[in-house]
Amino acid sequence: MDYVQRNPVPIPKGGAFQEVESTIQTVFDWEYELADKKLLALYEKGKSLAWNATDLAWDTEVDIEKLSVEGGVGDFMNKLLDPPRTLTDKESVDLRLHQNAFMLSQFLHGEQGALIASAKVVQVVPWAEAKYYAANQVSDEARHVEVYHRYLTEKLGISYEIHPSLQTLLKDIMQAKDWDLTYLGMQVMVEGLALAAFGMLRMMMEGEPLIHDLTGRVMQDEARHVAFGVVTLEKLYKGGLTQTEMKEREEFIIEATHLLHDRLLMHQVFERMGWDQKTWVDWMTRTPLMRGFRQMMFSKIVPNLKRLGMLTPRVREAYAKLDLLKFENNKDSVEEPEVAPPAELVAMLMQHLQSQNDKQQAAPSPAP
Ligand SMILES: [Fe+2]
Ligand SMILES: [Fe+2]
Repeated sequence: MDYVQRNPVPIPKGGAFQEVESTIQTVFDWEYELADKKLLALYEKGKSLAWNATDLAWDTEVDIEKLSVEGGVGDFMNKLLDPPRTLTDKESVDLRLHQNAFMLSQFLHGEQGALIASAKVVQVVPWAEAKYYAANQVSDEARHVEVYHRYLTEKLGISYEIHPSLQTLLKDIMQAKDWDLTYLGMQVMVEGLALAAFGMLRMMMEGEPLIHDLTGRVMQDEARHVAFGVVTLEKLYKGGLTQTEMKEREEFIIEATHLLHDRLLMHQVFERMGWDQKTWVDWMTRTPLMRGFRQMMFSKIVPNLKRLGMLTPRVREAYAKLDLLKFENNKDSVEEPEVAPPAELVAMLMQHLQSQNDKQQAAPSPAP
């Protein structure tokens, strides 16, 4: 792996290196019972489906501006998203470019979080088969950091520092004293959201083959990671939790949900564009399509929490306020590992694409 960093990733306010102090209980398993067939099957799958980041078509030319213009981003932004003021075509293209760069950058930082959290899981999880799988996940996550970093710095040339809410959440996950909280935070919440976000990005960047291939490969890995989290936690929670333990977990889930939800408002994008943050973040908060996007990010988290018995009255109350309970009857990650974007959203985007196609076909052909 040898690539040029056209624009290195910006450093967050706290500096390039962040130290997080945590005490963990490292567990050896001298029994090697290897009884959990579901975990062993995931481990076998993980080993055989590993891929090499170097094999991707890195010589693909990536021109998001051109793609955005061809995809009618001006119409999309102004008609479907109802912005506070009409955006020029140039502004629409820039906004789309920065939104993509922001999302991809948060994927990169989240992947580094996953790399470190899965390494912690290897140490703290008691069962040998879970240690095997977590070790396999560590190498997946290193590859994910590699591909997003390369894409952002070599291909896109624009990137963002970690969002403060995501930084707080990653710190909370690493400092959690009980190992199941690392799982809950990383495997169920952060990765569950990432899985939905990847699906969305892939749909939004249709027409860019490199990101399409990259995202598809990462999603396949992530689907296994989320399933790993759910299968392991299910095994643990079967034994029941005390009232205090349950209360701690409820608080952790609610806090993580708010932190994840906050970062989806992309205030750093508007700051970088020099636009009034309040006006544009307000718009992100209220415009129906953006609300739909944000809610969809939780479409896998909600059924997974339900499967784990964590959709308790307290968590339900918090989720009802964010209108997220509509996903509770979706298939969880064990029943269906992949995430499908909601039908209404797909229909809306398809309608937009169709109208763009019709326009292009109706346009008079250029004079010879
Ligand atoms: Fe990952
Ligand atoms: Fe992962």
